[in-house]
Amino acid sequence: MPPAPESELAALLALARELAAEAGALVAAGAKAGFAVATKSTATDMVTEVDRASEALIVGRLRAARPSDAIVAEEGAGHTGTSGVCWYIDPVDGTTNFVYGYPHYAVSIGVEVDGERVAGVVHNAAIGETFWAAKGQGAFLDGRPIHVSGKADLPTALLGTGFGYEPGFRARQALVVGRLLGRVRDLRRSGSAALDLCSVACGRIDAYYEQPLSSWDYSAGDVIVREAGGVVESVGGGPIARGSVLATSPALLTPLRALLRESGAVDTWP
Ligand code: IPD
Ligand code: CA
Ligand code: CA
Repeated sequence: MPPAPESELAALLALARELAAEAGALVAAGAKAGFAVATKSTATDMVTEVDRASEALIVGRLRAARPSDAIVAEEGAGHTGTSGVCWYIDPVDGTTNFVYGYPHYAVSIGVEVDGERVAGVVHNAAIGETFWAAKGQGAFLDGRPIHVSGKADLPTALLGTGFGYEPGFRARQALVVGRLLGRVRDLRRSGSAALDLCSVACGRIDAYYEQPLSSWDYSAGDVIVREAGGVVESVGGGPIARGSVLATSPALLTPLRALLRESGAVDTWP
């Protein structure tokens, strides 16, 4: 008999937490030991041997434990599956921070079942904090329930955002920031999209937007924000599409979307 959905979800979350902790220990050890660095899409887009080792550990353990699940992983170790379960892995989210020793980088593991994101774990390997959530079960930081800030006033809202590696996107992202910065409390650029989403979930910031992101950047954080009482949509409205992500306390959604629109943010940039 197939397992009940609740126990299946609990098993998926438990495995995600276990893998994030193991990979986080590897990342923390790598930070101390030193590592080789290479570049990917642009000279600013770095990958380290720790990113690759973290991904290899997670994917190897997943392939052994759940061979029929699909895997989408940033450094390319993906698999197609047949079970309806798909794992989204960012082995180090915040690689630039990691390379510079700036203590804000995380292992992010999101779980999708039949196309629905249902569980997520984000482990900050630099300081040891772990965020997790599962559908219908709330969101947690190191075991304590977390909630979005509840902020409703946009002019005193603290926002987060991020910038891609492609210079053309950055120029557009900078224009948007230039237009909205005078109309909010302030803006944080933490260097980790997964942790930005968790910061919304626990009220360290009131809202976060970025586009374009990749599925491994937001898959876990999306569940964590929604289970913490937040809203996650695309910047233009509707479900996340084309990597466009807006995560916020519910009362800020309408005014923030309007401000982003006035500031020139769109879901797709050519
Ligand atoms: C990046 C970080 C960054 C965000 C970028 C991502 P990486 O991921 O999450 O905060 O602004 O869009 O690509 O390269 O460190 O895994
Ligand atoms: Ca990432
Ligand atoms: Ca990464």
